[in-house]
Amino acid sequence: MKYRQLGASGAAISHYSLGTMTFGAETSEEDSHAQLDLYAERGGTVIETADVYSGGVSEQIVGRWLANRDNATTDAMFLAGKGRFPVGVPAFEAGLSRRHLRRALDATLARMGVDHLDLYQVHSWDPLTPLEETLGFLEDAVRSGKVSYVGLSNFLGWQIAQAATLARGRFPLVSMQPQYNLLAREVEWEIVPASEANGLGILPWSPLGGGWLAGKYTKDAAPSGATRLGEDPERGVEAYGKRSQDERTWRVLDAVSEVATRIGRTEAQVSLAWLDSRPAVSSIILGCRTSEQLASNLDASDVELSAEDLALLDEASDPQPANWPYGAAGVEQRSRSLG
Ligand SMILES: NC(=O)c1ccc[n+]([C@@H]2O[C@H](COP(=O)([O-])OP(=O)(O)OC[C@H]3O[C@@H](n4cnc5c(N)ncnc54)[C@H](OP(=O)(O)O)[C@@H]3O)[C@@H](O)[C@H]2O)c1
Repeated sequence: MKYRQLGASGAAISHYSLGTMTFGAETSEEDSHAQLDLYAERGGTVIETADVYSGGVSEQIVGRWLANRDNATTDAMFLAGKGRFPVGVPAFEAGLSRRHLRRALDATLARMGVDHLDLYQVHSWDPLTPLEETLGFLEDAVRSGKVSYVGLSNFLGWQIAQAATLARGRFPLVSMQPQYNLLAREVEWEIVPASEANGLGILPWSPLGGGWLAGKYTKDAAPSGATRLGEDPERGVEAYGKRSQDERTWRVLDAVSEVATRIGRTEAQVSLAWLDSRPAVSSIILGCRTSEQLASNLDASDVELSAEDLALLDEASDPQPANWPYGAAGVEQRSRSLG
């Protein structure tokens, strides 16, 4: 395991976080605890959760693990939570209002059985709540000692810039959590630069594109069996119908497979190593159904991709922005050198 600073903050965290979206869903409590044990043994320090995962059950599973392990193990953990979506309240009451976030944070702390989170992230932008109101709540949460650091998730570039500008000097806004993987690089146009410019560490979610980058789905056969898309082919951003029709998907998977064969590693390990090489990435959020998947993914830590491997993966996955200001001409116009 390697350790990195979380953005421009002083907090050091492991470069792989453990995501808990599968806990209480496709992963039982016993298996979730086995994943947490394995992750801790391998030097992992970040448990990444959200109140909406399994309707609060994921947080409870983490809470029972924290309550039943020794202090040395649990003290090493950097606890990250998220709030915004409705859990046990009507949808109209959710969002980033003071009222909702206060209740959501307290409910998260109660379910996890802790009095404090290391990182509290707003799960997505809320067009209805004034940003100042949200930031006021987050500032109070830090001052009250319930939260050490604050993060964003699923914000766009301008939203990141606005939040970071307003938060400066008031509380430590340190991270941004977007979808980021070899099949989803559009975040590099605005979201990654806005995060870097404001000292936010990137915490990529769905680093394997929901399982696609493990090489488990094929062009010729619809997904089946006990896999994410086998159980629900049209689930989420990784839906089979949408992704399988994009030629880039297969080009990327071919490149990943070629590198994996050349260096004797799995496709998932190659995909994780590529993401780890990207600037501004602080910690990659692993998501697993089984401990076997987790063990294998953690082994990506020592994968060294050569310049040739990286170039192949970069080229195959380039989202190829169609036009200025995102293409080469736009980049050139924004650069300046003294010669
Ligand atoms: N902020 C947000 O809006 C947001 C959104 C999504 C996720 N997240 C966070 O990010 C974490 C990770 O997201 P994710 O679960 O989508 O990550 P992912 O790594 O893209 O996909 C994980 C899934 O891929 C499959 N998989 C993983 N390793 C594998 C391996 N070695 N071989 C074969 N299959 C493998 C498993 O699914 P199957 O075996 O079931 O096919 C696993 O559940 C979540 O737990 C959560 O903490 C945040």
